[in-house]
Amino acid sequence: MSFQELIRKRYSVRAYKPDPVPDDLLAQVLEAGRLAPTAANRQPFRIIVIHTPGREDELRRIYPREWFPQAPIILCVCTVRAEAWRRAMYDGKSHADVDATIVMDHMVLAAADLGLGTCWIAAFDPAAAREVLGLPPEIDPALFTPLGYPDDAPRPRERRPLSELVRYERWE
Ligand SMILES: Cc1cc2nc3c(=O)[nH]c(=O)nc-3n(C[C@H](O)[C@H](O)[C@H](O)COP(=O)(O)O)c2cc1C
Repeated sequence: MSFQELIRKRYSVRAYKPDPVPDDLLAQVLEAGRLAPTAANRQPFRIIVIHTPGREDELRRIYPREWFPQAPIILCVCTVRAEAWRRAMYDGKSHADVDATIVMDHMVLAAADLGLGTCWIAAFDPAAAREVLGLPPEIDPALFTPLGYPDDAPRPRERRPLSELVRYERWE
């Protein structure tokens, strides 16, 4: 599959089969996350692999959708605040969330390449995530995704036209 085909194949999967994800496929998805670029190569992230069977109720405390723990695996990308690169010379902005997002995108695309489904989840309860996953105070949950075989079909893709999204040389 070419990259152009891959980015058209990926969609947010919101129904999953209970079939397990083979260990070698999980390893490939995690490796894609490991290879992601991060600001100043600080790699200020950790990935938590959560096996869902038997943990459905506590996982729904994190994100209360029926389909969230339907997948056999949920991945959580966390950030290590103190390890993240900051734009210290100007405004001090931490790039931890940018790094976490790239890590998640690598894993999401690797999963699609392997025939697995994912769905970015940002609308989770951070306090519940901390409690359920036992996160220490210096670690922040950034993003979740279920990982499993899709049990739904892609919907028509609604995107703004390029003419609205791209400007050339200057804003105006
Ligand atoms: C950063 C981010 C956060 C998202 N959070 C959620 C979420 O909490 N729940 C959800 O159902 N979908 C979530 N999504 C999925 C988007 O709704 C979805 O990507 C968008 O509607 C485009 O659809 P597609 O992924 O099928 O192309 C999120 C996507 C991104 C990129």
